[in-house]
Amino acid sequence: MKKGMVIKMELKIGYIPGDGIGPEIIKEAKKVLDAVMKQYGHVAVYKELVLGGASIDAFGIPLTEETIREAKSSDAVLMGSIGGDASTSPWYQLPPSLRPEAGLLGIRKALNLFANLRPAVLYEELAESCPLKQEIIQDGFDIMIMRELTGGLYFGERKTSVENGIRTAVDTLTYNEEEIRRIAIRAFDIAGKRNKKVTSVDKANVLDSSRLWRSVVDEVAATYPEIRCEHMLVDNCAMQLVRNPGQFDVILTENMFGDILSDEASMVTGSIGMLASASLNDSKFGLYEPSHGSAPDIAGMDIANPIATILSAAMMLRFSFDLDLEAQTIENAVKAVLKAGFRTKDIMSEGKTLVSCSEMGTILAQTIETIAMEVTI
Ligand code: IPM
Ligand code: MG
Repeated sequence: MKKGMVIKMELKIGYIPGDGIGPEIIKEAKKVLDAVMKQYGHVAVYKELVLGGASIDAFGIPLTEETIREAKSSDAVLMGSIGGDASTSPWYQLPPSLRPEAGLLGIRKALNLFANLRPAVLYEELAESCPLKQEIIQDGFDIMIMRELTGGLYFGERKTSVENGIRTAVDTLTYNEEEIRRIAIRAFDIAGKRNKKVTSVDKANVLDSSRLWRSVVDEVAATYPEIRCEHMLVDNCAMQLVRNPGQFDVILTENMFGDILSDEASMVTGSIGMLASASLNDSKFGLYEPSHGSAPDIAGMDIANPIATILSAAMMLRFSFDLDLEAQTIENAVKAVLKAGFRTKDIMSEGKTLVSCSEMGTILAQTIETIAMEVTI
């Protein structure tokens, strides 16, 4: 494509450095984004937002109205990570509703980010880090986990009380058909652009909410005749992910099952530091964040892997701004840099070149300039 053909855009991006390694990885993601903006002639207007532990330290609560307002006035939000070490951080002395995680759940709800996309991809260059045997991974796998993000157990009523001297706790798992339908439609739409298969995961042999889930998914499936739909029980799915991950294309599931299965799927790739995610509402707005956590044990040491956040920025360009070429440029740069042998500590192996978090960002930004030159000549 000729450079002159690219439409120049102004991108209003909110960014949340957050806690732990968050600030370091966000810095590198911005470095890479800036390189892309420069190459394609777009302008990013950034606004820093405060969330999680950082917000507790500054304002006493994990999510402020100001952050919600700023996020709503952005076109998209890019996040590092939130949370600390629960056994040592004072944030975890606070009541649960005031801890960092409550801020993340709160912003998802406030922005109606019901569709969580978590790709679990086996990178050819990193296949040696995959903990599964070669006979199981065969030609690799590329799974998109679609997790419902604003309903179910994490948002139901909960209560802890003492009944007749016995401590008792209740959490409720509620879904209505509309909440199920909208995420199912997203999953089928996305499967249509991939390998045309949806595996809907539930526990319909026990739970009413899962039986409703299954019947609504069937209704949606009937309107997508070109897409194969199968149902799988969550316990079986957990097993199939390590037995034959190549069978999956899109996995569609409710909030808690998706939380658990997406951690499992990311571990199976062997490179959790590489996995991005997007949380979308029903318009173009999204919150983009790495699939991994805030790794407080290595915070500030400049050894974290910024690639998951950088790939989340690529998802942001694709889903919120329709900038496919620009997103692809980032993804190609990541592959090229891995191919050239550069590795952060988490994905390091013999014979490769160890780089720091900031060096990885710089090398990627430089690579983008070369790649973008090639496609724009
Ligand atoms: C995730 C995290 C969060 C979740 C926590 C931090 C509330 O585990 O994004 O998967 O459970 O959704
Ligand atoms: Mg999780």
